[in-house]
Amino acid sequence: MKKLVIGNWKLHPATLAAAKKLAAAISRKSKHVAVICPPPAFLAGVVFPRLGAQDCFWEPAGAFTGQVSPVQLKSLRVKYCLVGHSEKRKLGETDEIVNAKARALLAAGITPVMCVGFGTKVEQDDLEVTDVLKTQLELGLAGLEPAEVIVAYEPVWAIGTGKNATPEHAEKMAIFIKHKFGVGKVLYGGSVSPYNAKGFLDQRNIDGLLPGGASLIPKYFNQIINL
Ligand code: 13P
Repeated sequence: MKKLVIGNWKLHPATLAAAKKLAAAISRKSKHVAVICPPPAFLAGVVFPRLGAQDCFWEPAGAFTGQVSPVQLKSLRVKYCLVGHSEKRKLGETDEIVNAKARALLAAGITPVMCVGFGTKVEQDDLEVTDVLKTQLELGLAGLEPAEVIVAYEPVWAIGTGKNATPEHAEKMAIFIKHKFGVGKVLYGGSVSPYNAKGFLDQRNIDGLLPGGASLIPKYFNQIINL
């Protein structure tokens, strides 16, 4: 089955030339649907069939210095946009802000990819984890049509650590997110690599992946999108 693999480049690379080179090295034909999320400065300069953004503002226009609106992203043919990434939550992004951004994205015709899992710990059992997710999703999805939102489950302890969750745990969380909230698609993110990706892609309720580090290495990303 075709799944969705969204590469989050975070604050990499340093130059537009390097970003163009990286995008050019990603396979145009792949088993799964591949999306790349370059940094905002390079979104207009990078060529790839499906682009995602890493963040946005919630107003369409106005006196908001330094912000990027969903309407502007739409004009760059951006199809997906992350909201609520744990690295943004660490800098003060609240569930209410996540909700406002998701609303603005849907109004502009962009699919929000709502990241949840901030506040989870490796030693928490599944019930405690669902408690954290419940709060983030209740507030994040308030007033939205959940079927129009993609949720990415990213346990914060698994991000950039080389310690991924087990596919079984991620599958359980995906079932919880879908059944409890009516979300259409759930992705897993957190130390995804070509070595562990298949285990997640094989799960029935996991609709794709959100790799960070591995999306910066074309050989790895190309392997993942073809597993
Ligand atoms: P890593 O794959 O580098 O752990 O990053 C995951 C992530 O934060 C994707 O949004």
